[in-house]
Amino acid sequence: MKTSTIPAADANRTAARRGRRRGAGPFSASVVATALAALIAAAALAASGQALPEGGDITGVVRSTAGLEEGVWVIAETDDLATRFIKSVVTGNGGRFLIPDLPPARYEVWVRGYGLVDSARVEAGPGDELALEAVVAATEAEAAKVYPANYWYSLIEPPASSEFPGTGADGNGIATTLIDQSQWVDIQKQGCMLCHQLGSRIVREIDNRDEFDSTLAAWDHRVQMGQRGSQMTNVMNRFGRSRGLEMFADWSDRIAAGAVPPRPPRSATSSSRCGSGATRSTTSTTRSRPTSGTRPSTRTGRSTA
Ligand code: HEC
Repeated sequence: MKTSTIPAADANRTAARRGRRRGAGPFSASVVATALAALIAAAALAASGQALPEGGDITGVVRSTAGLEEGVWVIAETDDLATRFIKSVVTGNGGRFLIPDLPPARYEVWVRGYGLVDSARVEAGPGDELALEAVVAATEAEAAKVYPANYWYSLIEPPASSEFPGTGADGNGIATTLIDQSQWVDIQKQGCMLCHQLGSRIVREIDNRDEFDSTLAAWDHRVQMGQRGSQMTNVMNRFGRSRGLEMFADWSDRIAAGAVPPRPPRSATSSSRCGSGATRSTTSTTRSRPTSGTRPSTRTGRSTA
């Protein structure tokens, strides 16, 4: 069942804001009162040296040519604060959303979702109510660009269980230490993925493929690269090196040829509160943008990190 309730406090705040906006002539009493309150707050802030000034919400609705878009992310980002700041929520019933408690700043607000391509960015600030236009992906390949890394990784094909135990370099290429397929999969998981996920774009695609004679040679090179090259290469050896490389090369080749994972389900909206099923904040300590593969979160739970 889909429910959407607005907690009393939020409803009151929203009502207060609407009222303020409606009655807001340049010298209305409420504006003066608000300004006075802000002054007092600023003085208190200066005195205490703590706490950010009170922020506000950005609310609205997301639509596309397919209708109201439920279970998609609405992302607000700003570089105006001391560090880069991102807050994302998921649309609930009727495509509604509420991004709560944003510190005063100018934000770029945009939409990402399964079945969509990333929307245009709209400038907004706390207190604004937006009608955002989501863009339906023309092809499944376009849509798949933002699927989680593990969906892409699910396209990988380990050797069949009938090929175990491995018979070594002179046999089927699988290391003789591997007596069962689950041991191979364990290396994929605990060997490689102990350090990083494997389905992200930079791993599944090989931008400099042209520089190598084969995809396998490219893979052989890339697991020796960088500060952890020696460890990566040791893990690759545990499969039976060339057989391991073959698996990764075959995976990259099929993806380059257009293989696409199944579309993930959208976030459930049934537990949504104020039209936002999940809220996630990211504050970065550098001004650089995080790689697009890492945002937004694919978590569907309520996490106010
Ligand atoms: C000990 C940690 C560790 C392990 C284990 C590990 N990696 Fe890595 N991997 C890294 C780090 C760190 C980088 C970034 C290297 C750099 O650029 O300095 C990286 C980079 C990569 C890249 C390069 C992406 C690019 O920039 O082109 C690929 C591909 C890769 N890893 C695949 C694997 C595979 C496959 C395995 C398992 C066989 C594996 N890794 C195991 C830490 C690890």
